[in-house]
Amino acid sequence: MLSEKLLGKLNEQITHEFFSAHYYLAMAAYFKKEDLDGFANFFIVQAEEERFHAMKFFEFINDQGAEAVISGFKNPKRDFNSAEEIFELALEHEKLVSSLINELMSVAQEEKHYPSISFLQWFIDEQVEEEASMGKLLNQIKRVGEKGHGILMLDRELASRTFTPETE
Ligand code: FEO
Repeated sequence: MLSEKLLGKLNEQITHEFFSAHYYLAMAAYFKKEDLDGFANFFIVQAEEERFHAMKFFEFINDQGAEAVISGFKNPKRDFNSAEEIFELALEHEKLVSSLINELMSVAQEEKHYPSISFLQWFIDEQVEEEASMGKLLNQIKRVGEKGHGILMLDRELASRTFTPETE
């Protein structure tokens, strides 16, 4: 059975994941406005992933015989100024999410709640990938700059990203 503390934190993570989806959708909107549809696609797919993450928490809580709590959240930032700014923010956000997942894992370990430890391990691994992909794109944007051929090449590459949820 989930303790009140662990259940509370798992429920908070549903909100964090849905907020992440909104945040990335706001980033997609900026790129749409800039006619960088490949970058927009990258963040639309990222938003889908975040909703998938949220639903994993939702299902896990239900599978544990508890009730998932759906809460609201603040408006995400808008008025972005550049691709570099967006990827800096996205990387910073993923680092924040990693720290939240790590914190959740610490609570699960303290309580020796093995189902949660096993469930959260997927997210620990996922966050390594999430941070790496945002960091890599940030470096690529820094290298090619905001204008010119390089950014359009990158845009074309990101247009092909699709959402493929892993099935366990
Ligand atoms: Fe759900 Fe991007 O972490």
